[in-house]
Amino acid sequence: MRIPEQIRRLSVVVLIIVAGLLLTRYLVPASLVKQRVYRAASVKREIAREVRYAGGSICINCHEEVNEQKKKGYHKTLACETCHGPSAKHTEDPSAVKPFAPRERKFCPLCHEYNPSRPTGFPQITATAHNPLKPCITCHNPHDPVPPQVPRECSACHAEIARTKALSRHALLECTTCHTAPPKHKQIPRSVRPTKPESREFCAKCHDKGSPQKTAPKVDAATHGERYLCWECHYPHMPGEA
Ligand code: HEC
Ligand code: HEC
Ligand code: HEC
Ligand code: HEC
Ligand code: HEC
Ligand code: HEC
Ligand code: HEC
Ligand code: HEC
Repeated sequence: MRIPEQIRRLSVVVLIIVAGLLLTRYLVPASLVKQRVYRAASVKREIAREVRYAGGSICINCHEEVNEQKKKGYHKTLACETCHGPSAKHTEDPSAVKPFAPRERKFCPLCHEYNPSRPTGFPQITATAHNPLKPCITCHNPHDPVPPQVPRECSACHAEIARTKALSRHALLECTTCHTAPPKHKQIPRSVRPTKPESREFCAKCHDKGSPQKTAPKVDAATHGERYLCWECHYPHMPGEA
């Protein structure tokens, strides 16, 4: 009797499958074949890994003050190790192993850089424009990041200037550092006007290379932009964008 063509082809396929199954028995590790043993082996493997994160609660044992600060502030929902990284080794021997502390400016924008996909209302900034050059932590306490109170008393009427200045490198200067405003200006603003700086010396008292003021960047006021008033080149409410 002749075996039909299609049965012969089928049996070749079946043979290949059976041969494959037999082969894998020998190639695959024993622990994979005996199911339960395989799972036990993987549990062992996971346990053998080094524990790197200490978890949310242990830090509080030794850093109660930081925790008290953090739990009242805007960052209350962040775990310590979100910012400080895996710190298990530190908890075992605090003086020998110090956790990383993200002091540099590029860290905070990971969460706070403007991004249209973040929820509306989430506090966002544009790092290139928001008080550039300084680390975020010079103005914001990372454990209780209240925005520093920008002086607001003039912003009721000069909102645009106030908002501009708030984002500039002059953010922390009060309006009254540069303008002397008589109280009456707030009642009859057009008739009683505040002073405006009149000379280059005014800006130079912070910016000249001889000035004792510490944080302002310095120029040589005797030669820098001489013959012109400083604000002919620098908008005083947003210096640096001239
Ligand atoms: C057993 C007590 C203990 C525990 C638990 C502990 N710390 Fe500390 N931590 C210390 C001590 C002590 C220091 C100060 C070390 C020094 O200055 O020599 C310190 C310092 C630090 C510093 C400062 C490092 C620096 O650069 O100045 C950070 C950040 C810190 N801990 C974070 C953490 C975090 C996050 C946790 C939880 C995962 C934690 N600690 C858990 C005791 C502890
Ligand atoms: C938003 C990120 C962030 C979170 C969350 C955070 N830290 Fe910090 N932490 C920092 C930064 C940045 C510094 C460095 C501050 C500095 O040098 O002025 C710091 C400094 C520290 C220091 C050393 C200086 C100090 O202020 O005493 C300790 C200790 C510390 N953190 C512990 C903790 C603990 C404990 C938690 C959780 C309860 C925590 N941090 C949560 C960012 C964070
Ligand atoms: C893991 C994400 C994350 C990181 C990293 C982070 N923040 Fe925040 N930040 C938040 C959250 C969440 C809030 C609270 C938002 C809310 O209340 O809706 C917040 C709130 C703030 C606020 C309050 C703004 C306001 O007025 O509502 C400031 C300021 C701030 N963070 C500054 C910082 C600084 C500075 C750093 C770096 C040291 C930093 N953040 C790192 C998530 C983060
Ligand atoms: C020179 C000081 C200064 C520096 C540096 C600074 N900020 Fe601010 N930040 C402020 C002031 C002032 C405000 C409040 C502005 C306002 O009310 O208009 C503020 C507000 C914020 C807010 C709240 C915005 C909102 O819409 O509620 C966030 C978030 C923030 N800063 C994050 C950061 C981050 C992240 C960095 C670092 C990349 C940083 N800041 C660097 C002074 C600073
Ligand atoms: C009640 C609203 C109001 C308040 C509050 C207010 N101003 Fe004015 N300010 C005005 C008006 C209106 C003008 C005139 C604008 C014009 O003429 O175009 C003005 C003009 C000025 C000028 C320009 C003067 C000139 O001669 O060009 C300065 C500088 C000034 N204000 C500073 C301040 C300062 C600083 C404060 C806070 C101490 C302040 N103002 C508070 C309403 C106000
Ligand atoms: C660093 C110094 C400085 C600070 C801080 C400052 N101003 Fe001025 N402001 C000036 C100078 C300089 C001028 C004159 C500009 C000119 O004549 O072109 C001026 C001009 C003005 C004017 C006249 C209109 C204009 O836009 O030129 C107003 C109004 C004014 N400032 C309001 C304010 C208010 C409100 C604040 C605070 C939110 C403030 N200034 C903070 C230096 C400053
Ligand atoms: C009370 C001191 C003080 C006075 C007065 C002052 N500034 Fe400033 N200025 C500062 C400080 C502080 C900074 C830097 C802030 C920072 O580090 O972000 C600054 C930043 C600047 C910058 C930014 C430089 C850069 O590299 O981007 C310019 C430009 C500038 N000021 C111009 C002026 C002009 C023009 C005047 C006069 C109308 C003036 N300043 C008056 C304190 C002052
Ligand atoms: C003729 C235009 C002009 C005049 C006037 C002028 N500046 Fe500038 N200033 C510039 C330019 C352009 C730069 C940027 C050049 C650079 O980065 O080297 C600058 C830079 C600066 C910086 C930043 C320096 C730094 O290292 O970050 C400061 C601060 C400054 N000027 C303050 C002043 C003061 C204060 C006056 C008045 C005494 C003044 N400028 C007058 C054009 C001028």
